[in-house]
Amino acid sequence: MSIFICRVCGHIEFGVAPERCPVCGASKKSFDQKDSIFIESEEKSKEAAVKHIPAITVNKECGLIPGQGCVDVIVRIGETLHPMEAAHFIQWIDCYVDDHYVSRVYLTPGVYAAGCFHLKTTGSKVRIVENCNIHGYWQAEANL
Ligand SMILES: [Fe+2]
Repeated sequence: MSIFICRVCGHIEFGVAPERCPVCGASKKSFDQKDSIFIESEEKSKEAAVKHIPAITVNKECGLIPGQGCVDVIVRIGETLHPMEAAHFIQWIDCYVDDHYVSRVYLTPGVYAAGCFHLKTTGSKVRIVENCNIHGYWQAEANL
């Protein structure tokens, strides 16, 4: 699948570049096609996978609004939790349903490398993309 990255904010779109970046509002011209972005991260630092591949838990019985078809998608970055130090940290976690962007969680040094997305959705697949300031882009998918 084609992958487009916003040069302004680093957001990724799958399939086609959008008219405007849903995260920062930059125009379509700000997107570069880079289909191998995830493969590049893995190849640059193979031993880093355990600290970077998102671990996704889907709770089908939502804890916030029970009985309304919502799900909680809970994400931690890495089977071994990624460090969150000033020089090396996870900058953000993006959530997609069926390859359409939903929302972003920003992280800062000092918090845990984890986030939660509350979804009201009939989609079938959630994809999580994260960005490490040193080790780049990583992703994982789970069924909804
Ligand atoms: Fe990292």
